[in-house]
Amino acid sequence: MTWSNMLVNCLVTAGEAIWFFLPAYFANATPVVLGGGKPIDLGRNFLDGRRILGDGKTFRGFLLALAAGTLIGALQQRLFIGFIMSLGAMLGDMAVSFLKRRLGLKRGDPLPVGDQLDFVAGAIALTAPVVSIPLSYVIAIVVVTPPIHLGTNALAYVLKLKKKPW
Ligand code: CTP
Ligand code: MG
Repeated sequence: MTWSNMLVNCLVTAGEAIWFFLPAYFANATPVVLGGGKPIDLGRNFLDGRRILGDGKTFRGFLLALAAGTLIGALQQRLFIGFIMSLGAMLGDMAVSFLKRRLGLKRGDPLPVGDQLDFVAGAIALTAPVVSIPLSYVIAIVVVTPPIHLGTNALAYVLKLKKKPW
C-alpha cells in the first residue's frame, strides 16, 4: 500500500467515524446555543462544599441535547442509537463537570482532554452495548475530536455564544 492510499484510508475512516458519532456531536453542541436556565444540581453543593455540577449543566441544555441527537439519529435511520448516544454524551459531559468541581475548578475553567473527550467517552460507553463500534472508529474519533472541539469552541467564542474560547 502506498502512502497516498494510507492517507485516503485514514481520511475515509475519520469521515465514517464522524458520521457514526454525529448524534453525539449535535448533542454536545446544542446546549452551547440553546442551553441555560435551571441547573440540574438545583444550585446545591456536594459534601466538599463545592457545587455538584455547576451552572453550566442545565435541564434545558440536557433535554435539547437529547432532542437534537435523537433527531440526527432519526435522519440517519437509527433513532434509538441517536437517543442512547446523546444520553451517553450528556452523562459523560456531566461526569467531567462533577470531576472538575471536585478538583476545585469553576464553571468554564479548562480541563484539557476531559473537556474535549467527555462527551465522546460517554457516547461510546452507552452505545457500545447496543451496537458494535469498529475500533478504528473509536481511535479516529479520539484523534479528530480534540482539534474539532477546539476549533468550534473558538468559533462559538467569536460568535459570543461562549464566554471562554475553549
Ligand atoms: N450547557 C447547558 N446544559 C448542559 C450542558 C451544557 O446549558 N447540560 C450549556 C451551558 O451554557 C455551558 C455550555 O453549554 O456553559 C457549554 O458546555 P460546557 O463547555 O460543557 O460547560 P462549561 O461552561 O465549560 O462548564 P463545566 O466547567 O462544568 O464543564
Ligand atoms: Mg464539558
